[in-house]
Amino acid sequence: MTKKAWGGRFGEELNDKALAFSASVDVDQRLAAEDVEGSIAHVRMLAERGIVPLEDALNIERGLTHIAEEIAAGEFEFTDAREDVHMNIEATLTERIGAAGGKLHTARSRNDQVATDMRLFTRRACEHTAASIDAVLAVLASRARTEIHVLMPGYTHLQRAQPVRLSHHLLAWAEMLGRDRGRMLDAAARMNESPLGAAALAGTTFDLDREATAHALGFRRPMRNSLDAVADRDFLVEAVAALANCAVHLSRIGEELVLWSSQEFGFVEMSDAFTTGSSIMPQKKNPDMAELIRGKTGRVVGDLVSLLVMLKGLPLAYNRDMQEDKRPVFDAFDTVDDSLEVLTGCVATARFDGDRMRAALREGFADATELADYLAARGVPFREAHHVVGALVARASAEKKVLSELSLEVLKAAHEAFDQDVYEALDFERAVERRALVGGPARAQVTSQTERLVGELMARGVDTAEVAERFGVKVTGR
Ligand code: ARG
Repeated sequence: MTKKAWGGRFGEELNDKALAFSASVDVDQRLAAEDVEGSIAHVRMLAERGIVPLEDALNIERGLTHIAEEIAAGEFEFTDAREDVHMNIEATLTERIGAAGGKLHTARSRNDQVATDMRLFTRRACEHTAASIDAVLAVLASRARTEIHVLMPGYTHLQRAQPVRLSHHLLAWAEMLGRDRGRMLDAAARMNESPLGAAALAGTTFDLDREATAHALGFRRPMRNSLDAVADRDFLVEAVAALANCAVHLSRIGEELVLWSSQEFGFVEMSDAFTTGSSIMPQKKNPDMAELIRGKTGRVVGDLVSLLVMLKGLPLAYNRDMQEDKRPVFDAFDTVDDSLEVLTGCVATARFDGDRMRAALREGFADATELADYLAARGVPFREAHHVVGALVARASAEKKVLSELSLEVLKAAHEAFDQDVYEALDFERAVERRALVGGPARAQVTSQTERLVGELMARGVDTAEVAERFGVKVTGR
């Protein structure tokens, strides 16, 4: 874009460095499809209202459609000289169809144009991420079903605490990600309003039909305030905040997979397809994908911070600073979408080692609470029971035994309320089954939560079995 294009106000060309500094087309060309979509809705409405002759509008629409096809086919040449995606498309249109192309921008500013593009893009991106989350949920549900018999220690402070089911743990991940999905869709719903017609900041004197363009673009309604329409990017903050939350969840899941695949835990072996070797140590099988999911989270959090800091202190309405919103938004979506897809594959194909989990349960005294509850159920004050069992754990530990290997005599010496049936309480399966409250790890609870999830997925058109097969879900366990 030469200075002349801005009109008579400018005599001199823009400095080369300034041009390179301010051009954004390398990044915002990603909005091309949305930009054309918005322009077509706008020009149709202009013709409808008699603001632009129908023939010009039809030529513009044809020209734009052709450009959109070229862009989709990778045949369109964007140039920095035309600054951004909007100017690139419009200038090419005018080159091709002649002066009538200049009518497209009647009663519109790049300010409402870019805000519209970003809302269209982000609304779709949120829906796409929600669908990627659904794929993880389907794989988690599928594995929760088939690994239902596998017991493992639940942890607090990363110390073995109480027995749970592996399926229960997998469903905890599903809960976390399910809320992220909800946040993505909430953000998409709230941003679904049309800035078009706000023009630069104060609307326009032309008698636009803002309802019509809003409707044509699938927006709920026109935005109510023209200043707000071009000035705020809170909808991006909201979407990226939801992504950051999701990334933090993914990072925690990645961390657990890293821990579990260590030799110290040995709870899981990631498939060859999602691990790498070492260039020097032949024995190594590294959980790189899980580590990278964890590692990339920092960038997504950074994207959120970039947006917030970019907005802080900006006076209404539009400021050029806001052009910097795109990189973090694109990066956050790309990173989270990729992480979700990789995680889906990792979880689908991982081999869980139920024997190692059970051994960890035994060695970890994860049944100590059972023993204390046993006494408490027989009238012993819980604090006293806790103390008695603590002493028994110390003793068993010193003798390199597990609790169920202590003789009844030893138990009775610690407290007379102990009886032969105490050994039933020390059975891990029973311990888990006794935790049958809503949300607990008992088989019936976990099964009903799994089936509820499968049903919810089905209701939104996601077939758990199909997704599981597509991602190559394994059945392991034991
Ligand atoms: N590339 C610009 C952006 O993304 C488009 C809006 C430019 N508006 C302006 N008044 N210079 O923010």
